[in-house]
Amino acid sequence: MKIFKVKSIQSQLILYFTITIIIPAIITSIIGVKIINDQVIRQAENKVLSDLNSAREVYQNSIQNITNITRMTAVRSLIIKALENKDINFLRQDFNKILKREKLDILTILDEYGNVVYRGSNPDIFGDNLKSNPLIKNCLTRKQIISGTVITPADELKKDSPELAERAIMKIIPTPKAKQRTDTLETAGMFLKTAVPIFNESGQFIGILLGGVMINRNYEIVDKIKKLMYEQSTYKGKELSTATIFMKDLRISTNVKNEDGSRAIATLVSEDVFNTVIENGERWIGDAFVVNTWYIGAYEPIRDINGEIVGILYVGTLKLPFDDLLRNSLLTFLGIALIGIVMVIFVSYRLSKKISAPLRKLETIADELAYGNYNLDFQCNGPREIEHLASSFKNMAQELQKEKLELEEWAMTLEKKVQERTDEIKNIHAQLFRSEKLASLGKLAAGVAHEINNPLTGILTNASLILEDLEPNDPKREDVEIIVKETIRCREIVKRLLDFAKQTQPQKKLININSLIENIILLVRNQASFRNIQIEKYLDTNIPEIMVDPDQIQQVFINIIINAAEAMGKGGKLLIETKRDKSGNNITIVFKDTGPGIPEHLREKIFDPFFTTKESGTGLGLSISHGIIEQHGGTIDLDSKINEGTTFMINIPIKQQ
Ligand SMILES: Nc1ncnc2c1ncn2[C@@H]1O[C@H](COP(=O)(O)OP(=O)(O)OP(=O)(O)O)[C@@H](O)[C@H]1O
Ligand SMILES: [Mg+2]
Repeated sequence: MKIFKVKSIQSQLILYFTITIIIPAIITSIIGVKIINDQVIRQAENKVLSDLNSAREVYQNSIQNITNITRMTAVRSLIIKALENKDINFLRQDFNKILKREKLDILTILDEYGNVVYRGSNPDIFGDNLKSNPLIKNCLTRKQIISGTVITPADELKKDSPELAERAIMKIIPTPKAKQRTDTLETAGMFLKTAVPIFNESGQFIGILLGGVMINRNYEIVDKIKKLMYEQSTYKGKELSTATIFMKDLRISTNVKNEDGSRAIATLVSEDVFNTVIENGERWIGDAFVVNTWYIGAYEPIRDINGEIVGILYVGTLKLPFDDLLRNSLLTFLGIALIGIVMVIFVSYRLSKKISAPLRKLETIADELAYGNYNLDFQCNGPREIEHLASSFKNMAQELQKEKLELEEWAMTLEKKVQERTDEIKNIHAQLFRSEKLASLGKLAAGVAHEINNPLTGILTNASLILEDLEPNDPKREDVEIIVKETIRCREIVKRLLDFAKQTQPQKKLININSLIENIILLVRNQASFRNIQIEKYLDTNIPEIMVDPDQIQQVFINIIINAAEAMGKGGKLLIETKRDKSGNNITIVFKDTGPGIPEHLREKIFDPFFTTKESGTGLGLSISHGIIEQHGGTIDLDSKINEGTTFMINIPIKQQ
């Protein structure tokens, strides 16, 4: 499957490696963060629930504490006595001490009918009956300690203490999201109260001692709860934990602080919590925005002795540490993923470079090979497979180079052979042409010569007879001598013509060419035309004897030697050489003179019959010689340079046909 269109190995490797790490990294991060989130939320909720339990414990302990103080006071004999004797003075002194020492807000003693005998908090008002008070009523009928949370209305409060009534008054601060109230002022007080029955020494019920603490603006309980929840109190300048006691839906005691540092009382609980806790009597746990920060909060109802819901106990733990924990773990996950990705990119980059660099080099090598450059550096440092590939490239290049050289050599040989063959064919053609020309000319010449020969003989015989008859000083003698001389010359021409035309079959016998040449030299050396000619011979003594017609071959050699001597009229050097040719099948005889050379345009013609540049030449010497050599199966070639000389080369096959 092709995910992206990427070209190079390097980018493909990096891309696929990165995708391979990014997808698991994202999945792991999501799952990990979700697990941690769930864990953190569960942990936070557990924490806040356990805090709520502790808070309830503190609340209950506070009631128990009041009960203990009140009970211990109620059993004292001095108190019993003072009640029986209505000793107000003693009660005043004693109650003042207890109120101060035990930080009670109210301490009231009543007779067995529920009439107030003495009010520690307000000694001036007494004698009123408190039977209607549910706590007192219960105690009167059951003669047992009755304790719990009680809401005391303002008129009753005023009796207990105008100061308490004053402390209880709260101007309700309008609160967003809260269930709005119709009233704007709260005047009732919320109390933790205990009613303890008093019995005299004979066990007779003689009255009730009522002790209590008003919670409104009393922060002892909430601060105790807060202290229990966390050792330290703040986190990043915010309260780590908070506790609040609501009278019905109104905050009357809390350690939540306003921006100005004052306690955030007199605000209302949110409508959501109101409905769950006060209306339905259930717990509420969730995120709560308190004053200016998010808390994870838990609320539960506070009930009076009749089980009626009269308030709410709240604890909250700051959400920030949990958010930080979550964020830190998310960052850790992302950090690890990022490091992983960077490492994978780095590793894949290195790896791909290791693979692609030698591949790129191979590519260059292949390009160079394509251009026919074989001298290359085939060293490729990379994975084993690529190194193998490089060495295969090297072998291939060597083979290619070898074959190319062979091919070039072969082409050159072929060219040479073609040239040789072409030259051979050209020569054969030229010779054929010449032979045909000579043959037809020969026939013509033979006919003419035959016709001329008889009249010539007649002329010569008669002219000779006339010459014999003439006196030595006869003036005609000179003319007749010219007739005789010219007639002899004519007869010579006719004779040569007949020789040429005869084309007689050669009478072959085994002869040594070297000795033939030696004889010829002996013959010609003393001739006048050879006086100024220096003859040099290089005769190869290893050449075999060959089957030739010695007379005819001698005639050929003499023709050529005389031509050379005639060409070098003022003197020169004639070089005669015999040898075996390169093929070893022929004997080559070379005649090289230092004459004036033959002009190029005449070279083709010198073998033609009657072609001569000499005044008294017949022009038949070379054409006869050519015919003879041809009849011996050989060839006659010429090489000439103007002002340097002429070379004739005769090849005669050693094995005659
Ligand atoms: N060695 C040479 N140097 C220069 N020219 C030469 C040589 N050999 C031959 N020739 C030229 O070739 C011509 C033909 O030679 P060829 O032997 O057939 O006839 P010729 O020598 O002229 O006459 P003839 O042989 O009858 O005396 C000569 O006239 C001369 O021009
Ligand atoms: Mg000649």
